[in-house]
Amino acid sequence: MNFDNYFSKKSAIVTGGASGIGNALTETLLRNGAKQVVIADINPENLDRQISRLTELFPGQISGILTNVTKENEVSEMIDQAAAFFGGKIDLIFNNAGAGLSGEFEKLSNEDWEKGFALNFYGALYGIRHVIPYMKKQGGGQIVNTISGIAWSPMAFQSMYAATKAALCQLGLTLRYELWDDHIKVNTATPGTTATAIFTGTSAPDYAQTPMQSAARILKGVQNNDRLILGDDLDVEGARNAFNPDVDDQNAADQYFLEVARDRKRGKWRF
Ligand SMILES: NC(=O)c1ccc[n+]([C@@H]2O[C@H](COP(=O)([O-])OP(=O)(O)OC[C@H]3O[C@@H](n4cnc5c(N)ncnc54)[C@H](O)[C@@H]3O)[C@@H](O)[C@H]2O)c1
Repeated sequence: MNFDNYFSKKSAIVTGGASGIGNALTETLLRNGAKQVVIADINPENLDRQISRLTELFPGQISGILTNVTKENEVSEMIDQAAAFFGGKIDLIFNNAGAGLSGEFEKLSNEDWEKGFALNFYGALYGIRHVIPYMKKQGGGQIVNTISGIAWSPMAFQSMYAATKAALCQLGLTLRYELWDDHIKVNTATPGTTATAIFTGTSAPDYAQTPMQSAARILKGVQNNDRLILGDDLDVEGARNAFNPDVDDQNAADQYFLEVARDRKRGKWRF
C-alpha cells in the first residue's frame, strides 16, 4: 500500500507491538520510512524475539521497552524513554495493547471488570495522558487508539470486551475535538477480524484477514486522519447498522445478535 511518504522520518510508539496487529503496524511503519519505532509490551519473550527480528531488518531504528500498560508509572516512564530514543520528538502513539475479554456476565466479578478496564481502557488513557505534553510542546502529533467493532456490535458473553472498547471509542472521539486546535490528531481504529493470538483457545473465522492487511488499512486511515478507521467491510456494515433508528433495521439487529447469543449459549462460538 502506498502511504505517500506520510510516515517518512516519523517516530512512533506501538503498545502491544510484540504480537499480532501491533507487530504488523510496527513493521509496516518501518518499511514505509518511519525513522524509529518503540514497541512497548508486557511479554518479554515475544518482545525480545521481535526486537531481534526487526533489528536485523532495521538496525538502530527499533527498541523494545518491557511495559505493563495497566500501570500508569510504567507507561509514563516508557514514554519518556521512547522520547529519549527518538531524540525528543514523538510523532505517533498507537495505543494498541489489549485483549478480547470474554465470559458470562453473571460469573464476572468486580475484580474481573477492574482488570478488563485496566488493560483495554486505562492502558490507552495513560498513553494518551502522558504523550500529550510532548505533542503540545512539539506543536502536534497523532494518537491512534485501537478499539473493536464489538464497541457497537455487541456479542453475548463478551460484555466486558464490548464495554471497554465502547468506552475507549468515546474517549478517542471526544479528544479528537478537544485536541484538534493543538494539532494533535486522534484516530479511533477497529482492526477488523484479524487472525492473531487473540483467538487462542478458539479459532479465527475463515474470513479473518492477516495482521499485515489490518495494519495497512489502519495506516491508510491514519494517513487520511479518519475520525473512525474501520478495519474491514464487516466493521463498516456493523457501524452503519448498529444505531440505525429505523425499526426494521433495529429488528434485524436484534435477530442477529440474539442468534449469536443462543448459539454461544449452546457452545457454538460464532460471530
Ligand atoms: N484480532 C482481532 O480480530 C481484533 C479485532 C478487534 C480488535 N482487536 C484489538 O487489536 C489489538 C491488538 O490485538 P491482536 O489481535 O494483535 O492480539 P495479540 O494478542 O496478538 O496482541 C496483543 C498484544 O498486547 C500485549 N499486551 C497484553 N497485555 C498487555 C499489557 N498489560 N501491557 C502491555 N502489553 C500488553 C500482548 O503481550 C500482545 O503482544 C487489541 O487491542 C485487540 O483488542 C483485535
